[in-house]
Amino acid sequence: MSTDPDTYEGQIGALASTAATDLRSDTVTRPTPAMREAMYRAEVGDDVYGEDPTVNRLEELAAEAVGKEAALFVPTGTMGNAIAILTHCRRGDEVIVGDRAHIYLYEVGGAARLNGSPARAIPNLPDGGLDPQRLLASFLGDDVHEARTGLLCVENTHNMCGGRALSPATLRALVAPARQRGVPVHMDGARLFNAAVSLGAPARELAAEVDSVMFCLSKGLSAPVGSMLAGSRDFIAQARRGRKLLGGGMRQAGVLAAAGIVGLTEMVERLADDHANAQRLAQGLAEIPGIRIAPETVQTNILFFDALDADGQPQNEAFTSAAASQGVLLSGGDLGGIRAVTHSGISVADIDRALQVARSVAQQTAPAVRR
Ligand SMILES: Cc1ncc(COP(=O)(O)O)c(C=O)c1O
Repeated sequence: MSTDPDTYEGQIGALASTAATDLRSDTVTRPTPAMREAMYRAEVGDDVYGEDPTVNRLEELAAEAVGKEAALFVPTGTMGNAIAILTHCRRGDEVIVGDRAHIYLYEVGGAARLNGSPARAIPNLPDGGLDPQRLLASFLGDDVHEARTGLLCVENTHNMCGGRALSPATLRALVAPARQRGVPVHMDGARLFNAAVSLGAPARELAAEVDSVMFCLSKGLSAPVGSMLAGSRDFIAQARRGRKLLGGGMRQAGVLAAAGIVGLTEMVERLADDHANAQRLAQGLAEIPGIRIAPETVQTNILFFDALDADGQPQNEAFTSAAASQGVLLSGGDLGGIRAVTHSGISVADIDRALQVARSVAQQTAPAVRR
C-alpha cells in the first residue's frame, strides 16, 4: 500500500497503522480501503421508512448468510441481543444464560433493566456450552410461584470461554431441552463467522439450531459499526419496533451498511488467518517459562493465558502493563487470565513481535515479583 500522504491509499494506510500491536480485541479493527470506498459511494435513504437501499441489501445478504427469513441492521451487538430479549419474552419472563455469557456479564443487565427479565445463569462448560440435564432442570413456569422461562441464550463463538466454537451437533444437543419445553433460543453469535470458518460449517447450519441470531460486523469482519439480528419475518417485524424503542432507528445508515456489506462478502474467509495467528501465538506462549496456556483449546481468534510469578501465582496485571509499555496491548481478563485477540490488523510479524515482548516481560517480571 502507498505511504504517500497525498494519495487516498496513503491516507488510509496512515489511518490504519498504529505503533502498537493491539491484541485487546477484534473490535479495534479499522475499516478497509474497500469499505471506505463503498461508504463514500453508498446510495442512501431514510431507513426508518425502509427506504435505504444499501441497508435493505445488507439485511437481505445477512438473512441469506444465516439462513433466516429476515434480518435487521442494528448499531451494536448489545442492542441486537437486547432487542432479541424484548421480542422473544413477555415482560418479567426469565432468561436462561451461561454464567460466562456476554449477555449476562457485560450488557449492563439489559434483560432486567429493559424487560424486567431476571437472568438465570447456569455454569458454562469449558467449551462454551451448557449441560443439557442442568438446563432441563432450570426451566420454570409450571408453578404459580415461578416466573416463566421466556428464552434460552447461547453464545458462539464463546468469548469468555476462550473463543470456543460450538458445532452443529453440540448446539443441537444444547437446544434440545428448550425445544422440549417450547422455549425459544437466541444465539449471541457476535463472532458466528469465526465459528463457521473454524468448524468448516456454513453459518446457516449453526444458526439453523436457533430461533434468532445476532452477529457483529464490527469485530473480525472489520466494519466500523453495526450488527445484524436475524430470524423469522414476523420476529424481525417485531424486532423493528424494539429497535425504535431503544433509539436504534437510524436514518441514512447506508453509509454504515455499505461497510457491513464488504465485511460480509469479503472478510469472512480471511478469518482463517486470524485463527492461524492465534494458534501461532498460543504455541509460542506455551514455550515461554512462566506462561500458562493450553494451546490445544485455542480454536478461533481468542486466547487466554496466565503469567505466573516464581511461586506459580498469576501476576497478570503486572505482565499486561509491562507488555503495554513495550507496545503490545492485551486485555486483563477479570475472569480467567489475560486475553489476546487476533484480527485483520494483526500480521504474522506482529505475532512474532508480541512473542518477543512476552518472552522479555516474563523474564523481567517473575524475578521482580519474587523479591
Ligand atoms: C460475545 C459478544 N456478544 C456481544 C458483544 C457486544 O457487541 P457490541 O460491542 O457491538 O455491543 C460482544 C462485544 O465484544 C461480544 O464479545
